[in-house]
Amino acid sequence: MTLILGIETSCDETSAAVVENGRRVLSNVVKTQMSHKDFGGVVPDLSSREHVEYIYQVVEESLSEAGVSIKEINAVSAVNGPGLVGSLMVGLTSAKAISLRNNIPFIATDHVKGHIYGNILTHGEILFPSLALVVSGGHTSLFMVEKDFSVKEIGKTLDDAAGEAFDKCAKMLSLGYPGGPALERTAQGKDGRFKKFPVSKLKSFDFSFSGLKTSVMYYIKEMGTNFVQKNVADIASSIEFAIVEQLIKTTYAAYEKFSPAGVMIAGGVSANKLLRRRFEEVFEKKRVKVYIPEMRYCTDNAALTAGIAYLNFEKNNFTSVDAGVYSRN
Ligand code: KG4
Ligand code: ZN
Repeated sequence: MTLILGIETSCDETSAAVVENGRRVLSNVVKTQMSHKDFGGVVPDLSSREHVEYIYQVVEESLSEAGVSIKEINAVSAVNGPGLVGSLMVGLTSAKAISLRNNIPFIATDHVKGHIYGNILTHGEILFPSLALVVSGGHTSLFMVEKDFSVKEIGKTLDDAAGEAFDKCAKMLSLGYPGGPALERTAQGKDGRFKKFPVSKLKSFDFSFSGLKTSVMYYIKEMGTNFVQKNVADIASSIEFAIVEQLIKTTYAAYEKFSPAGVMIAGGVSANKLLRRRFEEVFEKKRVKVYIPEMRYCTDNAALTAGIAYLNFEKNNFTSVDAGVYSRN
């Protein structure tokens, strides 16, 4: 039995988890920072400082919830990128310190691959090759994932990430932070047909959300505050519809071209109910396995790093203590 303690601090979640054999999640403590609320977005400096404040307590909690002592842990992992550099440093340094103090190996893991691994935590096994749509606050990409978990990017956003589009549009509608869930809540019960916002469909498998963002901005300006306030649910729903349609159309085009054995969604935006439903609908009658992660494995959490690190552990693939962090792939 291999127990891995994982630490995730890439953005505004301070998280630690204990996962057995890369599958069984014994604990997964997530502390979401609230100090960014007043700023309408994540403030990097505040984020690093809060990670420093919480990390010790979160790691302690993850061990006690799992019912294990640090002496029973076989390896410690941390996400070292992509993400906010100062924030990543807190988790990485903590993991290295735990590794050195307890004489256990250290494994650095990739944030994006971790999100994809959320589907392994949810479904146990998956068929390969699988086409993965990774949608978060920092990423919107299509990857072909192979059995050894190597990934090949076949498309990506040319401007904003899908989560960013949700967050920015939510901000324009004054819906609060974090924008994605707020916009989803506001849109509840509406059908997305109120206003037709542009749905980019590029020739490649890339994505673009800047046209939508600009269009929403002009629409709000043109229609005025009273109209927007009165119809905010319908407008939010129309924005959600446009974002999800682009994600679905592009993923479907890639599916037709590459005929993978599986298709999956991953990352914070995969918590969106409309995306989950549309993804299921579009692929359910096709000859392909559909993988949607459990809600708790969509947004940032340390079970993802503790889980995927097991693949490295099995191969004795450990990370040197002088490894650094990276902000982008
Ligand atoms: O993966 P994640 O937790 O952090 C990053 O790696 O960025 O993703 C956070 C992003 C944010 O942009 C947030 O607004 C979006 O995921 N998000 C959602 C929902 N839940 C989180 N977007 C739409 N609908 C949701 N339910
Ligand atoms: Zn993430």
